[in-house]
Amino acid sequence: MLKSRRFLALAIVLALVLSFAVNAANTAQAQAKLSGKLEIFSWWAGDEAPALDALLKLYNQKYPDVKVTNATVAGGSGVAAKAVLKTRMLGGNPPDSFQVHAGQELIGTWVVADRMEPLDSLFASEKWNDKFPKDLIGLLSYKGHIWSVPVNIHRSNVLWYVPDNIKKWGVDVPKTWDDFFKVCETLKGKNVTPLALGPNWTAMHLWENVALATLGVDGYRNLWAGKLKFTDPKAKAIWDTYSKVLDCTNSDAASLGDWVPAAQLVLDGKAAFQVMGDWWAGWAVAVKKLEPGTGFGWAPAPGTEGVFMMLSDSFGLPKNIPDKENTLAWLKLLGSVEGQDAFNPLKGSIPARLDADPSKYNKYSQSALADWKKDKIVGSLTHGAVAPEAFSSQFSTVLDVFIGTRDATLAANASQQLAIDAGIGK
Ligand code: GAL
Repeated sequence: MLKSRRFLALAIVLALVLSFAVNAANTAQAQAKLSGKLEIFSWWAGDEAPALDALLKLYNQKYPDVKVTNATVAGGSGVAAKAVLKTRMLGGNPPDSFQVHAGQELIGTWVVADRMEPLDSLFASEKWNDKFPKDLIGLLSYKGHIWSVPVNIHRSNVLWYVPDNIKKWGVDVPKTWDDFFKVCETLKGKNVTPLALGPNWTAMHLWENVALATLGVDGYRNLWAGKLKFTDPKAKAIWDTYSKVLDCTNSDAASLGDWVPAAQLVLDGKAAFQVMGDWWAGWAVAVKKLEPGTGFGWAPAPGTEGVFMMLSDSFGLPKNIPDKENTLAWLKLLGSVEGQDAFNPLKGSIPARLDADPSKYNKYSQSALADWKKDKIVGSLTHGAVAPEAFSSQFSTVLDVFIGTRDATLAANASQQLAIDAGIGK
């Protein structure tokens, strides 16, 4: 009896060892057998490159025979990249995989145009369906199918500053826009730009933050659900506050190259605050080598405490690409814990996966992880979560006009017409 039990135990151990060895050999074989090319398209160039570089390095270690092309088109929030992508997609020359925001940016463009492959079987084979938050999978889905793999969650409603400078100027971090307007006067008196601003897309980023503060969570959601009109007095009030906020920004905003030169104004002590997404923290840590909490500080953008305005960078599988197997291996990597934990600590974002390793993340990201769990979640306009490109690309012109004219009625009427044309709420 004892002998046969021992024999059984031995047989089980042997079987386990064997199956482990076979699995390992299969994986190694699968990894080794990939060859050819892979082209990854994004706007993560220059100051925004370190996180993507880490991911590409990992891919390269796993698949050394695949020649990876890192095709980037610089320009924050993809302003330039999206135009190049459009030409390539329409011209029948899609990159193997491209950066695209979860939500309307993905669904409203390439999915409805039938240019993408559904990824349901990948999600099933990788057992991903319960590894990502349900609402996020909802953002990646259309007509019952999933269309991209999310690599991160970024927060867009953050106010950045340098703690020592704030102390030196004797101002507090504002909790509301009314607080901020007081701080703005004090700082102007000291010849410090109260709020650093960059080119057009950063003005939209600022606008969505003012909109959230003005409307609150329900009002903001209703705006994108088509239930609250842009011409409603509540929504028109956004423009009044926004105009006052603009009066606290640097006059050369439009001519700054991107969000980084504006962020640099804050580090250089020329400006006090900046409202920006948390790639700001990624840049401050990975590029500027600053310590979260001392080298830089953060708070929810004024009037948005308890709310997490989210966006998610994702990658999909276009139809008719030359390197499908290599692309599937790329998508598997960026959806894995290993991929997410290589990318996000350098990016300033938190992992989209629920089971990533929190110990890999710095003090800023730990606070974002905590807020992500307890805050109310809304989606970013500027970064593709809540409105289709058809709206946001035209809305940038409305903003340009408003910055010049400060005509709230004109801006509200034009936005409402754009919302109708883009089918918001349909
Ligand atoms: C966002 C993107 C971020 C970051 C940022 C600034 O749209 O989701 O990952 O790249 O633009 O360029």
